[in-house]
Amino acid sequence: MAEMKTLHVFRGDQSGGEEVAYEIPVEAGMVVLDAVHQIQATQAPDLAVRWNCKAARCGSCSAEVNGKPSLMCKTRVDAIEGEIHVRPMKAFPLIRDLVTDVSWNYEKAKQIEPFAPKEPAPFTMYQRDVERSQQFRKCIECFLCQDVCHVLREHSAKEQYFGPRFMIKIAELEMHPMDGADRLHFTSHQAGVGMCNITKCCQEVCPEHIHLTDDAIIPLKERVADREWDPIRALFHKTAAR
Ligand code: SF4
Ligand code: SF4
Ligand code: FES
Repeated sequence: MAEMKTLHVFRGDQSGGEEVAYEIPVEAGMVVLDAVHQIQATQAPDLAVRWNCKAARCGSCSAEVNGKPSLMCKTRVDAIEGEIHVRPMKAFPLIRDLVTDVSWNYEKAKQIEPFAPKEPAPFTMYQRDVERSQQFRKCIECFLCQDVCHVLREHSAKEQYFGPRFMIKIAELEMHPMDGADRLHFTSHQAGVGMCNITKCCQEVCPEHIHLTDDAIIPLKERVADREWDPIRALFHKTAAR
């Protein structure tokens, strides 16, 4: 006899909703996304869930499993003691059931000045410069870091802060030795790096284990503080830029 487990899955939309309990047989190696698929196949064919790869590569199946932002396809059912509660990401508007509208993130991405090469490729670069930003390119845009960030999640400060995913995007560009653009004023004023108070929750939930705070946000804050928040240096930079 297969072990039975109860999944409490959020059902609803913008107008309201609640968790509904579904009992399912647990199979060896089952992940939460399998369990949700089993519920769809046998008990609730209209349960909405977004997924694609089932291999932790596409970043589509983001949700909150027992309150923790997680990829459903990477979260083993047998690793969770007791009941399992599956809810949509809280930081983004709900579409239906487990599906949220993450388009705000794509709007932010468009506002960041893209790579501006100082000279035509091919480039000669030191290995250490390649390695410094390599981890940032592993991002699968699951937006779990955005979901856990209390600035976006609890204070709804989406007008003031782009969130950790876009801090690593900016850091990747700023740390590229062949990039000639200057995004520090933008990082301070529009992207709002100063809103981050280094709680490090974002790097704890990242499925790619990117060191968002230590390797991107803190160095970015240092650069911005040096240039934008020190009044003498800021004045010097303004004069030099004229
Ligand atoms: S470290 Fe900064 S960006 Fe990361 S979760 Fe905390 S406040 Fe948000
Ligand atoms: S940095 Fe990590 S948690 Fe954030 S979107 Fe990229 S892969 Fe997801
Ligand atoms: S289904 Fe692609 S990351 Fe989970």
